[in-house]
Amino acid sequence: MRLPTSPTLITSPQRARRVVIVSNRVTRPGCTAHAGGLTVAIGDSLTAEPTTWFGWSGRISRSAAEREPECEVCDQLQILTTDLTAHEHAGFYAGFSNQCLWPLLHHRPDLMQCDNEAFATYVRVNQRYASTLMARLHPDDLLWVHDYHLMPLARALRAAGACQRLGFFLHVPFPPSEVIARLPWHRQLFSALLEYDAVAFQTSSDTDNFRHYAQAVLGAQLVDGCDLQCAQRLVRCRTLPAGIDVDDLARLARAADTNGDTAGLREFFGRDPLIAGIDRLDYSKGLLERFRAFEHFLANRQAREHRAVYVQVAAPSREPQAHYANLRLGLEHAEEAITRRFAEADWVPLHCIKGVLSRGTLAALYRVARVGFVTPMRDGMNLVAKEYIAAQDPDDPGVLILSEFAGAAETLREAIIVNPLDVEVTANAIQQALLMPLAERQRRHAALCRRIRGQDAHRWRRDFLALLRNQPAAHVPGDGHRILRQPMASRVRKRQRAGGELT
Ligand code: G6P
Repeated sequence: MRLPTSPTLITSPQRARRVVIVSNRVTRPGCTAHAGGLTVAIGDSLTAEPTTWFGWSGRISRSAAEREPECEVCDQLQILTTDLTAHEHAGFYAGFSNQCLWPLLHHRPDLMQCDNEAFATYVRVNQRYASTLMARLHPDDLLWVHDYHLMPLARALRAAGACQRLGFFLHVPFPPSEVIARLPWHRQLFSALLEYDAVAFQTSSDTDNFRHYAQAVLGAQLVDGCDLQCAQRLVRCRTLPAGIDVDDLARLARAADTNGDTAGLREFFGRDPLIAGIDRLDYSKGLLERFRAFEHFLANRQAREHRAVYVQVAAPSREPQAHYANLRLGLEHAEEAITRRFAEADWVPLHCIKGVLSRGTLAALYRVARVGFVTPMRDGMNLVAKEYIAAQDPDDPGVLILSEFAGAAETLREAIIVNPLDVEVTANAIQQALLMPLAERQRRHAALCRRIRGQDAHRWRRDFLALLRNQPAAHVPGDGHRILRQPMASRVRKRQRAGGELT
């Protein structure tokens, strides 16, 4: 890709419309670490369309608010990142987003910490992001904003004069009104979602919950049974489940068979069937309940020879927070207790890896695992479930055990569906999965494959952007000239490849 010498004016009337993605986390293409469902879904959905992805750099710096964002360009993708100050990190990210909104949206209002100053900082960071974006937007850009960190962004952008089409996707659940109403600032916060032109959710129950809340609490009118009219704005409101790039994951998993990764795992963990769980170390993931179910399975198996090895990858997350640190301790104790009770000279039944594995290693682990163990207490979608299916060998596939409280359960009906709080049922599901005959495994896997292909990451992006494009914008000025209102960034670390234009 060739970078123009001056990025201030691009005059080609043929230039494809740019998509501007905004999310708190951002990853670079080819980054192999698994950093949560949002970056997997967005990363997998990136296409050759000109796209700018804006978000937090992951760094904290004193002068974050004054500094120009950093810019990196890779083919048609431009990545713009900004640091957070320590105060912003504490109030916006750790405080309001993760100590208040995260538990609320995961149906745990009992864990919510409500702090006025943190909420004010959250709103201010959204305003700062809005002014950073305003200085760089093209008049006909499509903005696709992601997740709970950035709900008020459209309001801040509109206040600054943005007339572009603005869409929002929530990666996490949207609970019923009576849960939402526990948040002291719920009207102020969630009414901001009605400043987008389109909002979409992972499951039909999330969408129904939002529609109900918007009508009952915010006074919106339902239009055509699905959209919401509020003041002068018609807000398209849909269920668009996030997905993965199925072919890419399947290719990685096949590669693991030939590059020795799957053989290495088998050698390390032994010949007993493997059960794999891959999660961030988060209380919403039901990890302790999963350990309990595995213990129950071990205690009740019919013969001592019926052995299995459960490998749980628990990627450390949001560590300074007490709930997360306590969970880590809890998992360590539970793992130790299970080892003490069941381990034999040639068998350690549970391995909990508290670390981040590369996507290649994860694909190898999915591939060798006879059981994919995905039992969150609540999850917006859970893309691990989809990755596990994509990574299986269709001739000898493993079995997915899936919580009924993961968004993925709405469509992945051929998994063994469990309530993770029911230890006995979950333990029986492990037994059923390990004993399932080949023909049944193949039948279920083929059906699940069709489902994840029907809702893959590319379709997710296409459908969302089509929804946004088809929505008439309030006012989209355009004379064929696209003006970048300011230089794109002060520091441009240019990754160049032959051909192409700057996005
Ligand atoms: C979930 C959220 C994402 C978030 C990810 C990792 O998937 O929906 O928005 O990025 O968790 O959490 P973190 O706090 O590390 O960004």
